Amino acid sequence: MRVIRDIPTLRALPVASPRVLVPTMGALHEGHLQLVDLARRHAGPDGEVVATVFVNPTQFAPHEDFDRYPRPFEADMALLESRGCDAVFAPGREAMYAPDASVKIIETAIGAGLEGASRPQFFSGVCTVVAKLFNLVRPDIAIFGEKDYQQLAVIRRLVRDLDFPIEIVAAPTVREPDGLAMSSRNAYLSPEERRQSVVISAALSEARLSMEQGCIGVATLLDRVRERIASGPLARIDYVAGVHPDTLEPVDTVGLDGLLIAVAVWFGKTRLIDNVCWRRR
Ligand code: PAF
Repeated sequence: MRVIRDIPTLRALPVASPRVLVPTMGALHEGHLQLVDLARRHAGPDGEVVATVFVNPTQFAPHEDFDRYPRPFEADMALLESRGCDAVFAPGREAMYAPDASVKIIETAIGAGLEGASRPQFFSGVCTVVAKLFNLVRPDIAIFGEKDYQQLAVIRRLVRDLDFPIEIVAAPTVREPDGLAMSSRNAYLSPEERRQSVVISAALSEARLSMEQGCIGVATLLDRVRERIASGPLARIDYVAGVHPDTLEPVDTVGLDGLLIAVAVWFGKTRLIDNVCWRRR
């Protein structure tokens, strides 16, 4: 596995086709590694998997966890190699951003609510760095996890509107045995916060069951999700929202296209997100 730190070396790397990109911020867990497995399957015997590891400063607000974001670089490299990654691009900040960088990409619809409302800088940081990674790595396919459902939708819009010739492939959320969605930020949770955090996935799977059974309004559904999450005394809800799964606009009724319930919940200083997307067959 080649580990590349600078842009000239990346550009000089011979290209195998298809090239499949897995963008990450490192601190890898099984959820990331399943993105790599999926990339490997899409790459096939002749193609290649390129992962990126870059904690992107522009998607963090000054008060957020950029400085304490975990960076276990050697362990990450070993994990990527063990899952058949061919190359890793792990640039430093200086390689990615000129000190006076002044161009940003702003998506104005899909990313406006939910995470975009709570973290106003987040999606412009993500869009800008992902567009840069697309230009640098020039993949045929890129893999993103459904755990960050809104990010995935924003990236699809970025690719469509800026004509990147890249197929975006979604990978299902990977969960701990008790249901908690895997995330690098789970490592911040205290043992008691970790124990209570299971209320998030429990609330969402109960909501999925209610949607499957039908005959329930979105407001009632969301109230039940809020109540279930609040049954964890340490949980502080940021948002619980019911939106259209494609436009991410708020809806009052479960329409023909189904419903996405997206949540963000604080446990102490740790903010966790999760979602359930239910589509009518
Ligand atoms: O999902 C992430 O890990 C990041 O937002 C991404 C897509 C790697 C961009 O920094």
